[in-house]
Amino acid sequence: MTTETKSNPSGKGDGCERAPKWRTDFPIEWEGDHYVSRREMVKFLTLGSLFLACASWVTALATKFLRSTPTSELVIGSAAVLEREGSLLFRYPTDKDPCIAVRTQEGHLVAFSQVCTHLSCAVVYSKSDSKLNCPCHLGSFNLAGVPIGGPPTRPLPRIRIERRGDQLVATAVEV
Ligand code: FES
Repeated sequence: MTTETKSNPSGKGDGCERAPKWRTDFPIEWEGDHYVSRREMVKFLTLGSLFLACASWVTALATKFLRSTPTSELVIGSAAVLEREGSLLFRYPTDKDPCIAVRTQEGHLVAFSQVCTHLSCAVVYSKSDSKLNCPCHLGSFNLAGVPIGGPPTRPLPRIRIERRGDQLVATAVEV
């Protein structure tokens, strides 16, 4: 066999149907090779999908955990001042989180993050039309924090507040 392949390494033209020497030296199964590649691709896609599903699950859990993280209570001002002025600015839960409390025309006290959910400008209270307006792109929110005009599509995070005598106390952020 060795002498045959030496005289005609391609294995063609001698009327013989033997496989060429390169095929015996490098026995690559092309169909099998394609099959393995396909199988590995499917394996990769399956593992990739599984990884993404796990990452989404972990992200959802982390978000839920962070949202439900208890925040401390903080005295934010005087209820009498809020009733007189109609609105009150404060910071909660940290000094970097501007918020606004409003006394509605029905006498309810509500409070929201002051950060517009569009591009983070500060919303301001408009007593005349009972809305929180964002001056940057003319967004507006009703006094439930729901966007009712302009580009914002997400509601303002609500701050839970309680009245204790004349004190207003912020107790939690509701996202
Ligand atoms: S930042 Fe408030 S509407 Fe754009």
